Amino acid sequence: MTRPDPTTSVLTGSAGTPVLEVDDLHVEFRTRSGVVNAVNGISYSLAEGQTLAILGESGSGKSVSAQAIMGILDSPPAVITGGGILFEGRDLLTQSPEEQRKVRGPGISMIFQDALSSLNPVYSVGYQIGEMFRAHRGTSKRDAKKHAVELMDRVRIPGAASRVDDFPHQFSGGMRQRVMIAMAIALDPRVLIADEPTTALDVTVQAQVMDLLKDLQRDTGMGLVLITHDLGVVNEVADDVAVMYAGRIVERGTVDDVFGNPAHPYTEGLMNSVPQVEAKGGRLQPIVGQPPNLAAIPSGCPFHPRCARRRLGADAAPGRECATDVPPLRLVVPGREAACHYSEEVLGV
Ligand SMILES: Nc1ncnc2c1ncn2[C@@H]1O[C@H](COP(=O)(O)OP(=O)(O)OP(=O)(O)O)[C@@H](O)[C@H]1O
Ligand code: SF4
Ligand SMILES: [Mg+2]
Repeated sequence: MTRPDPTTSVLTGSAGTPVLEVDDLHVEFRTRSGVVNAVNGISYSLAEGQTLAILGESGSGKSVSAQAIMGILDSPPAVITGGGILFEGRDLLTQSPEEQRKVRGPGISMIFQDALSSLNPVYSVGYQIGEMFRAHRGTSKRDAKKHAVELMDRVRIPGAASRVDDFPHQFSGGMRQRVMIAMAIALDPRVLIADEPTTALDVTVQAQVMDLLKDLQRDTGMGLVLITHDLGVVNEVADDVAVMYAGRIVERGTVDDVFGNPAHPYTEGLMNSVPQVEAKGGRLQPIVGQPPNLAAIPSGCPFHPRCARRRLGADAAPGRECATDVPPLRLVVPGREAACHYSEEVLGV
């Protein structure tokens, strides 16, 4: 297996030793109507304290890749067909289910895309937060409740001690999201994957929740993988960004570099579709053409049916025909990788 070299990976940068490495991960869904190629060889590494945003339109494989890391894929029909998921240098995919359980939870934790609906309505929030300690550490009921109050304080739920026995429906959306964050950080994970953590919230509350996540990250040094459609959130909080298309990473680098001067026509399209990336709530607008059908991904460059820069037939350079030659993710300029045959032209270098 080829592992990302921590000294050269653009996503590790100066942040230090990787805590999480995803290496050439492949996931497919074997359904009655055919094979859906949801994740097609993605690789990245994340260091302590680093925030990596994963950006891409709906159906590009963001959540499926996160679920693969967490070991919670819907399987069957999902199958991990290749690659590695290394936590602190050890490949989870070669470990027993028992060993994997010990890492996931305490080591890598996740806030789910549908977090607001995933609290159990019949248990108090304190009970649900406390469950993390009871289940993973065998903590007594009394101590678990004490820890739950401390965590509710940490995620800034006002009056934590008096609200610990309240039920989810007694909390606002923003406060319920804080409860989910409390559960996710309960065991002090080294990596937190946040899948669209603010999508269901209004803009002011979104900003508060993102501030909270950043503060927690500063306190604990955890690495943060932030999955989002929201260019404004990426711009504000992430160090690095990986842009996904059709289950692949098509561009990655620092947020400043990628947003400032994209190297892939798909990223370029995203930037052009949002005039003010800095504006809060700047969201991905549809780019001309249909998102790819992952059961029948286009040949060559998967983006070619929608790409204004594509070169076909005799117009293409040898070995760089957009409809037939697959562009590998490659280093285009220092610190920047892109999967386009013509990235130098896109960048203007
Ligand atoms: N249970 C399933 N059976 C078959 N295909 C699935 C299943 N779950 C996901 N997929 C496929 O995997 C693709 C990637 O899904 P994923 O949930 O990762 O998208 P996403 O990038 O997170 O999108 P969104 O932004 O809408 O959350 C989907 O387009 C879908 O085709
Ligand atoms: S390889 Fe060709 S089709 Fe793909 S993004 Fe680059 S120019 Fe467009
Ligand atoms: Mg998703």
